[in-house]
Amino acid sequence: MAHIELKNITKKFGGHTALTGLNLDIADGEFFVLLGETGAGKTTTLRLIAGLDKPTEGQVFIDGVDVADWGAAERDVALVLQQYSLYPRYTVRQNLEFPLKPKIRRLPDAEIKDRVARAARTLRIEHLLDRKTDRLSGGEMQRVSIGRAIVRKPRVFLMDEPLSALDAKLREALRTELKNLQMQLGATFLFVTHDQIEAMSMGDKVGVLNHGRIIQTGTPHEIYNNPRDTYVASFVGSPPMNLIDGRLVNDRAVMAPINFELPLAGGARTSGATDGRPLVFGIRPEDVYLESGAPIEAQVHDVENHGVEKIVTLRVGETMLRATVPARTDVTIEQPVRFAWNPDKVVLFDKGSGISLRHAG
Ligand SMILES: Nc1ncnc2c1ncn2[C@@H]1O[C@H](COP(=O)(O)OP(=O)(O)OP(=O)(O)O)[C@@H](O)[C@H]1O
Ligand SMILES: [Mg+2]
Repeated sequence: MAHIELKNITKKFGGHTALTGLNLDIADGEFFVLLGETGAGKTTTLRLIAGLDKPTEGQVFIDGVDVADWGAAERDVALVLQQYSLYPRYTVRQNLEFPLKPKIRRLPDAEIKDRVARAARTLRIEHLLDRKTDRLSGGEMQRVSIGRAIVRKPRVFLMDEPLSALDAKLREALRTELKNLQMQLGATFLFVTHDQIEAMSMGDKVGVLNHGRIIQTGTPHEIYNNPRDTYVASFVGSPPMNLIDGRLVNDRAVMAPINFELPLAGGARTSGATDGRPLVFGIRPEDVYLESGAPIEAQVHDVENHGVEKIVTLRVGETMLRATVPARTDVTIEQPVRFAWNPDKVVLFDKGSGISLRHAG
């Protein structure tokens, strides 16, 4: 297995810069998720690690060795793509055997048989081994693609949105399976996705990539509770964090443009917030409460039913904010309600830069 390090990687395609000063450190045996919107540079990053492309600047290290002069084959990494690249007229077994039968350094037959059997058992595709791959469902095909990576026993698995073509239910099932597989193999996984739920549920660590730059790296817990900036705050979480413009006045949050104020925890000021400094106050919808005795009145603007909970959009003047409340909470549109927030959970961002005051400096 392997430790991967990217140092100060820049990648340009002609005049277009796809990656800028990228640093990544993926520990041996870690499940690392690179999360970013379309065009953020996710596939480019994987291709540089796999050796399919060269960085314009910077270095890729695998187990401490600079692999600049190594070809794709020597790097011993497996890349699983969103589109399955199976041979359609061959059986599942033949597809799994194929990576083990290169012209040079062919493995002994017994070893090939053993590896194919083991991969098939792990992925629960034993019953499909003799079927042609064009007779498989999407989920089965994706399992075979992953199987083709597993049989090689690579040092690193690189996965480029392998679940995004599948329907929601299958995606969820394979999410759990992939995570189990990674733990079972003890392998280093770099998994790329634009789906924040996938990232948060699967990653030991998550790196948020935006326009070719890593904005924040941390555990899902750190990313969720302590986002580095308003971009991460609004990208991660569903519904996203409420972001409300305001100012700090006497240790309270005073919202603009219509003045309503809410308390802040004692630590708010220590992070460098001074009275009157323009800020953005961030609060997760689950930390906003509806309570009859609460300080602020709002109108119910919208209600979405999500089974166990409801997402209520509140309107105070022109400000909208969302609260996640238990399904049994009785609310109707345009009803006046009162709300409060958990002062300990408020994140303060600088209005100009969007950077959290906890991360500044
Ligand atoms: N071979 C190339 N030539 C020119 N531009 C490229 C090339 N490959 C990628 N790019 C550009 O680099 C940027 C990053 O592309 P990349 O494919 O890495 O994004 P991505 O995060 O994988 O997006 P998606 O989620 O859509 O797959 C994009 O703006 C893309 O147009
Ligand atoms: Mg891509």
